[in-house]
Amino acid sequence: MLELRHISKSFVNGSEQVHALKDISLSIQTNEFVAFMGSSGSGKSTLMNILGCLDTPNSGQYLLDDQDVATLDDDTLSAIRNRHIGFIFQTFHLLPKLSALENVKLPLRYTKVSAEEADERANKLLDQVGLGHRKNHRPNEMSGGQRQRVAIARALINRPTVILADEPTGNLDSKTSVEIMALLTDLHQQGQTIVMVTHEDDIAECAKRVITMRDGIVLSDSADPVKGDHSKESE
Ligand SMILES: Nc1ncnc2c1ncn2[C@@H]1O[C@H](COP(=O)(O)OP(=O)(O)O)[C@@H](O)[C@H]1O
Ligand SMILES: [Mg+2]
Repeated sequence: MLELRHISKSFVNGSEQVHALKDISLSIQTNEFVAFMGSSGSGKSTLMNILGCLDTPNSGQYLLDDQDVATLDDDTLSAIRNRHIGFIFQTFHLLPKLSALENVKLPLRYTKVSAEEADERANKLLDQVGLGHRKNHRPNEMSGGQRQRVAIARALINRPTVILADEPTGNLDSKTSVEIMALLTDLHQQGQTIVMVTHEDDIAECAKRVITMRDGIVLSDSADPVKGDHSKESE
């Protein structure tokens, strides 16, 4: 469903060139729950941005539902992004002046979904994430965990093919992190495909597949043990 073929990405930082991703090839299927791990600077966010069509590689191909995204014009690409991808960020990215309900409905603003249906879906999702009693609160009237729940409901409103979550618990205390991971695990059990980034082992354990990156390459992939840690196979 998501297929990266020989993806490379570099950035120019002053006089220095940084190779953030070096010839990455991997695919992620429907209903997977994948965690990317690796130390800071290993290329995780760059990879997520490419998966989410927020950035483009310097070379290689990215196929989203069998479509090569490089062949799409900007309008088609944003339509695809809107329809297929739900984003969750470490810092929530909610609009401060909007209520929880309005934040959740936001991605539907540029779609053909009617106002009634948008209301219905947003209400249902906020109930589902346990915020039925906070629908008219603004982000600054909510805790970090509640804000992330709003962000998760917003990510789900378009019924995306995949949820991309870059360090979704990075700004949360450990108790709240556990609650957010329970919610994501629940969504995965209902069939939602999830790709997340984390640098915490206990968070990664919630995923069914763990891909470890280092310096822009895939160091290990639990779905493909041959590439990874051989010692584990002989245990
Ligand atoms: N927009 C950018 N401009 C310049 N360098 C960048 C940019 N984004 C990422 N990098 C560099 O690419 C490398 C990988 O970064 P990143 O993907 O953010 O890693 P991670 O998310 O694993 O911490 C780092 O060396 C980082 O400094
Ligand atoms: Mg990052």
